[in-house]
Amino acid sequence: MEANHDGKPFIYRSCGPEDTALLAAWLANAAVPGTVIGLDGDLGAGKTAFSQAFAKQLGVRGIVNSPTFTIIKEYEGRLPFYHMDVYRISLEEAEDLGLDEYFYGDGVSLVEWAQIITEMLPKPHLHIFIETTGPDERKITVEGFGDPYIKWCSSLNENGVLHNES
Ligand SMILES: Nc1ncnc2c1ncn2[C@@H]1O[C@H](COP(=O)(O)OP(=O)(O)O)[C@@H](O)[C@H]1O
Ligand SMILES: [Mg+2]
Repeated sequence: MEANHDGKPFIYRSCGPEDTALLAAWLANAAVPGTVIGLDGDLGAGKTAFSQAFAKQLGVRGIVNSPTFTIIKEYEGRLPFYHMDVYRISLEEAEDLGLDEYFYGDGVSLVEWAQIITEMLPKPHLHIFIETTGPDERKITVEGFGDPYIKWCSSLNENGVLHNES
């Protein structure tokens, strides 16, 4: 866990993909133009599972696959949805992709393996770290850096994932 987070992280114990989907849906409901979410965790932790549930709640229709080979895939939902997976590239290669267009655009950016490009992320962003703690159990740490992400974490800590129907 990073030491310089702002505010208190939200620690979520997921007992199966449906629990992870509830957290993803809460965040999709909170998303606004320019929202940036970084996802980290080992292979098979559930980054893509999270992304798929997030996209569904955002109103994206059709299949959201891991964009490992394409790096960036764009979808249309309530807001444009930019799904990125930087697993196969270096920071230097990422710098040539023009990611700022996405991060500072009108859509929502979700980055799998965000730690590779941490220094390229906008300072305000949400970071999600998924740890495999059992076959179906995951410990998910949600940290806010800047606004509105700190408020999201406070709200999650106060009310949990079931109260964000907006
Ligand atoms: N609690 C859970 N949360 C998310 N995924 C889970 C959970 N339990 C089991 N899984 C399974 O783990 C796998 C995660 O794969 P994936 O999302 O592709 O991982 P990643 O993108 O992190 O490599 C999926 O098959 C999913 O169904
Ligand atoms: Mg993946």
